[in-house]
Amino acid sequence: MDKIEILIINASPRKNKNCYFITNIISSKLKEKNISYKVFNIYDMNIEYCNACGFCEKTGYCRIKDEMTPMYDMFDKSKGTIVVSPVYFDSVSAKLKTLVDRTQAFYSSKYVLKKPSIDRNKKRTGMYIAVGGSNSYDTQFKGGQIIMDFFFKSINTKLKYNLYLNKTDELSSKDNIEFKLKLEENLDSFIKEINS
Ligand SMILES: Cc1cc2nc3c(=O)[nH]c(=O)nc-3n(C[C@H](O)[C@H](O)[C@H](O)COP(=O)(O)O)c2cc1C
Repeated sequence: MDKIEILIINASPRKNKNCYFITNIISSKLKEKNISYKVFNIYDMNIEYCNACGFCEKTGYCRIKDEMTPMYDMFDKSKGTIVVSPVYFDSVSAKLKTLVDRTQAFYSSKYVLKKPSIDRNKKRTGMYIAVGGSNSYDTQFKGGQIIMDFFFKSINTKLKYNLYLNKTDELSSKDNIEFKLKLEENLDSFIKEINS
């Protein structure tokens, strides 16, 4: 398999809705620029909950073997990660939180064992896109942002781009011209960044 430069994590279970559409725009753009990528539709994947067994504190690796297992190495080798998540209760979707918790193996390797199982010196760039159904309100994106800030630190990836889309209950991402322009601009900058 070719080396995967960019991981795209789609954290919505809904097919052909807002996050899927955004994920497709990102994939097309990366394809056009000849950048290798892989889309992870995580609701279709078998990713178990972290059960706090403590194995990673002793080894730096996760004991659970499932579809998360190859992702550790992919995060390590990647040039970047893009996460697209729906806002659920002012946070990320539950499946995304499950994936985030599993990166505790990286956290333990760095801060408990002091023997990182991810290369901490490699340059990696991150983007987080949050999609909420309601009109704008103060806390709408706050919970998700806090979790994503921590997640991107855990995978040693600099989260440089954060995009928020609201009101999808009224106007879908597909029909939101302003958002699509913003996404294009941010993707162009992201691509420049990973190629620099
Ligand atoms: C369980 C659940 C919780 C939600 N909580 C929020 C919320 O707190 N704030 C908000 O703006 N939208 C909320 N929504 C609406 C979704 O964010 C919205 O439908 C979004 O478009 C989902 O992404 P998708 O269309 O790609 O599936 C919620 C939807 C569900 C199913």
